[in-house]
Amino acid sequence: MLQRPKIVVIGSLNVDHTLRVPHIPAPGETLTATATFTCLGGKGANQALAAARAGGDVTLIGCVGEDNFGARYIEHLRSAGIHTGTIMRAGPSTGCAFIAVDDTGENGIVVSPGANHALTPIHVEEHTTLIRSAAALLLELECPLPTVLRAVSIAVAAGVPVILNPSPLTSEFIQAHMEVNTLILNEHEATALVSMTRAEIDAEPQRARAAARCRQMIITRGGDPTLVITAGGILKIAPPQVIPVDTVGAGDAFAGAFAVAHADGMALEGAVRFANAAGALATQGVGAQPSIPWRDAILALVGRCNGSTG
Ligand code: RIB
Repeated sequence: MLQRPKIVVIGSLNVDHTLRVPHIPAPGETLTATATFTCLGGKGANQALAAARAGGDVTLIGCVGEDNFGARYIEHLRSAGIHTGTIMRAGPSTGCAFIAVDDTGENGIVVSPGANHALTPIHVEEHTTLIRSAAALLLELECPLPTVLRAVSIAVAAGVPVILNPSPLTSEFIQAHMEVNTLILNEHEATALVSMTRAEIDAEPQRARAAARCRQMIITRGGDPTLVITAGGILKIAPPQVIPVDTVGAGDAFAGAFAVAHADGMALEGAVRFANAAGALATQGVGAQPSIPWRDAILALVGRCNGSTG
């Protein structure tokens, strides 16, 4: 990497309250947690940290509350080398998430948006020059959809590649007819977005890509091969095989690492291998941000894996 690619992330910042549980609670069930902990998360900040640790020159546009968590959060990101002058403070509460993680590392999350929902299209427009100068714009859907739509339209008009993880997936997004370069989705999001089963997506990938309205569609499938659908065909790229401890933030680590590799000009297959390794490493520790890997660790894992395409 000759120069660190300039990545702009627009997204959420949350405080994550995590409960380790034997299984994700069923409706009406009461469970006793075996451990609890609090750490910093939010899909936007997780993506930003992942991109910074993967080698990007990262700016995060977002909003935290005027509470202690908000001040602490900005300082945490600043000390991680992320440009934070674009993070506003509004309202009493920084966003928070309540997360159950089971014995297999699988999770269920409920988010209370707090200050994240104070980020408006006008705030995004204030950073038009910054967005236009980015090598990639990376987003998810924990901020208001009109804000995301405005950012995407600024980037698209300037020819800046847009990478979007449509999570949490909403019917408003599905109806919004937003066109982006790259969609990164997990299996659940992909099947819901295009109204096709996994088997149908495998059999008719171009129908899925057309329904998703993107140039390239990347579907992560946990330990199964990541599916990459482009106009030129499909790739199936096996991730490193690991035993997950905690999958929270693994998708964000994948997205942040992919954005850096893609913006750095890496070919699609290589960029997905890099992102697969980042996502796998992110499952090896507890909490979203503490387990996000650095570039050297990602490259070392890529080097140890032969991977496979099909
Ligand atoms: O993707 C994981 C993230 O989702 C957590 O950090 C939590 O804050 C929610 O936003």
